[in-house]
Amino acid sequence: MSNIWKTKPLGAYEADMKKSELKRVLGKWSLTAIGIGAIIGGGIFVLTGTGAYYHAGPALALSFVVAGIACIFAALCYAEFAALLPVEGSAYAYAYGTVGEVFAWLIGWGLVLEYAMGSMTVAVSWSGYFNKFLKIINVELPYYLTNDFATAKQYAVAHGLTEPSFAFNLPAFIIVLIVTAILVKGTKEAAGANNMIVILKTSVVVFVIVVGALFINMDNLTPFIPDEKMILQSDGKMGPAYGFNGIIAGAAAVFFAYIGFDAVSTQAAEAKNPRKDIPFAIITSLLVCTALYILMSLVLTGMMNYKDFGSIPDALTAPVAIAFEKATGMDWAVILITVAATIGLISVLLVMMLGQSRIFLGMAKDGLLPGMFKEIH
Ligand code: ALA
Repeated sequence: MSNIWKTKPLGAYEADMKKSELKRVLGKWSLTAIGIGAIIGGGIFVLTGTGAYYHAGPALALSFVVAGIACIFAALCYAEFAALLPVEGSAYAYAYGTVGEVFAWLIGWGLVLEYAMGSMTVAVSWSGYFNKFLKIINVELPYYLTNDFATAKQYAVAHGLTEPSFAFNLPAFIIVLIVTAILVKGTKEAAGANNMIVILKTSVVVFVIVVGALFINMDNLTPFIPDEKMILQSDGKMGPAYGFNGIIAGAAAVFFAYIGFDAVSTQAAEAKNPRKDIPFAIITSLLVCTALYILMSLVLTGMMNYKDFGSIPDALTAPVAIAFEKATGMDWAVILITVAATIGLISVLLVMMLGQSRIFLGMAKDGLLPGMFKEIH
């Protein structure tokens, strides 16, 4: 029992680092791209409508500022620890080095939940985007091949169909296989694929910001912080919205869009110069994404009145595409944004699955998981 409180000495980490079989192939910009790859995903394309309509109104940009500040504190902690302990285990290793094995074990499994379970969620939302894209090109997969069994059954009941005896989310399964294949190929190849996806999705975000800014109607942004009032919430109950409290509730609603910056720290054993480049990449990727998110939410609520997000069809599920289409009249933008979100989510998946295997590696090296998890391909 007394062993569960033991901490792993710094010297043991240094010995591990010397023995590491992982190749140091990642420079500071690839690491930054890994951060951006994990952060910008479905969140910004989906949650902004909910944040504006149910919570903050035009002050959604301030919600992003509040959530960004919260993340910066976490990012600074990660940066500090990553400089001290540049090993693959991320927060698991930091906990083992400081507060003891039992906490490390808990945090290690917490990270597995974040990355492994998170990947499943991202794969399912990727499948949703992919199906939207297929519909644009007039291809429709059967609902029992694009949903899990429980959701497919609900769908059948809601649409008066016979309940399926089988259902499987085929696109989600296939994308996980493809991402696994890229990761098995090697970190360098995976980082190369990630870099390309990051360039594409960041360009689309910048495009929406720059072009959308030309279509801002200042009336939509006034008053910037609407007075607090009671509105019908998504759960069907009346609840408070807007004002100062709305900004804070909005920050919680959009927080998911920021998740991912921590994944950079799992790449420490593959960084060329981990002590400097990991802190640089964590902080730079978070700052870049915060700036993009703030600008994106200003442009979005400037293009379309926050009240309209609740009444225009699909504006809550695809707010960026709908607001951009309505304000600019460019209906092909929906295709562009759907494609960007579909491809963008692949890099979230790529980084999360990459990070997860490194957490397994760190835990297996310390004997907290079976040895097969520390075998290097
Ligand atoms: N931040 C990631 C996203 O928005 C998880 O998809």
